Amino acid sequence: MTTIDLNVVVPKGFSDFDVNSNIDGPQIENLRHEAPPRSSRIAGFAQMSVKARLQALLERGFLSRESAEVLHQEGHLPHVMSDSFIENCIGAFSLPLGIATNFLIDAREYLIPMAVEESSVVAAASHGAKLARSRGGFFTTPTKTIATSQIQFKVAASEAGNVPLWFERVRAEILERANNCHPKLLARGGGATGVELRVLPQPGMFVIHIHVDTREAMGANIVNTIAEDLGRWLPSSLPCTVGLKILTNLTVHRITRVRCEVDAKTLEIGGFSGTDAVDRIVAAWEFADLDPYRAATHNKGIMNGIDPVVIATGNDWRAVEAGAHAYAALTGQYKPLTRWWKSNEGHLVGEIAVPIAVGTVGGVTRLHPAVQSTLALLDNPRADQLSGLIASVGLAQNLSALRALACEGIQRGHMALHEKNIEMMRRYDHVPSLSAVSRGPGASQL
Ligand code: MEV
Repeated sequence: MTTIDLNVVVPKGFSDFDVNSNIDGPQIENLRHEAPPRSSRIAGFAQMSVKARLQALLERGFLSRESAEVLHQEGHLPHVMSDSFIENCIGAFSLPLGIATNFLIDAREYLIPMAVEESSVVAAASHGAKLARSRGGFFTTPTKTIATSQIQFKVAASEAGNVPLWFERVRAEILERANNCHPKLLARGGGATGVELRVLPQPGMFVIHIHVDTREAMGANIVNTIAEDLGRWLPSSLPCTVGLKILTNLTVHRITRVRCEVDAKTLEIGGFSGTDAVDRIVAAWEFADLDPYRAATHNKGIMNGIDPVVIATGNDWRAVEAGAHAYAALTGQYKPLTRWWKSNEGHLVGEIAVPIAVGTVGGVTRLHPAVQSTLALLDNPRADQLSGLIASVGLAQNLSALRALACEGIQRGHMALHEKNIEMMRRYDHVPSLSAVSRGPGASQL
């Protein structure tokens, strides 16, 4: 059994959480205690207040008191920080942060933080994760943390035939130069792992790709520095005109693969037997496989799961979005990022393959106070593990959407949640933001 440290330092002025309140047995005088086994299934979580949910996570050892206090504050991002993140800052923009429950990933229990404004997304992810538990949850394939940069160059069309030979001669030198740019990365077990030459469909136009293991970082800055350095060197080795020097977001050496299996019986719904539901879900996937118009919506549903976790962990969701859609279109037809089929035993099997370029260092990950707490909630995963968690949420989200769409439709559940927003609009006189702010203490200070 694991232990949790109760002797956390709580910032002055915060004493909102009573860590001992619901712990059975003798009162805790000592500083450590046996934590209950962590389960991501928390009965009644959806019905609790925000504070009670945080308390539940604290009691179960998913959050430290300090992290719970940070998340409990409305607006965790001080102006001094947001002003240093971006230019012309005038404040911080908030999104709801929810917890998707029920996730069992590689035999470990996870509660997943999701920052998202769309109702029913967190509920759908939790529901998909619950269905997948029927046969062990989600299983990830180890993901490499390879980022790739591109150096575009052009030679005279008459010289194009010599370029592949030149490239073979300088291949090792390019790798060495790339590694010299980031000696610390080498020391951390990362560094350049390969180079390749690509010929573009214009006479004399080429691109060099440099693949770099960026370890815990998403890697954009690392590979962009390498690309610019090599771009300066290139004309001294080959008469050419150098074009762009920048990473590609189509990170095909960073594909994250996750698989799950769902017991047919657990898919029974309304008038549909488990077997019917499996067949209908597989048919719904086939529709996306055949038709890019459906594939776009199918993948949007997957990104409903992926983006909120990418955002909540302080990562670049535009990069992940660009990579996902470019990968979906790689064969020349836009395709679904998941695949669903029926196993020999009649169960539903699903798989996702998607590039997820995220980091646990760099960017705002080590600065944003809420991100520190969300990463802690995920047990401070490595970057490759985080990719697997994120892809699992994408697969769960897709499962939930397909089951609803293929069987009883999504609008009944969706509208029930949406109704809460409508009620909020009514309460705040149709201008919720302004009315809500004018009630707050900050309004009169402007
Ligand atoms: C809505 O945000 C997402 C869905 O449209 C996804 C899908 O159709 O698969 C329900």
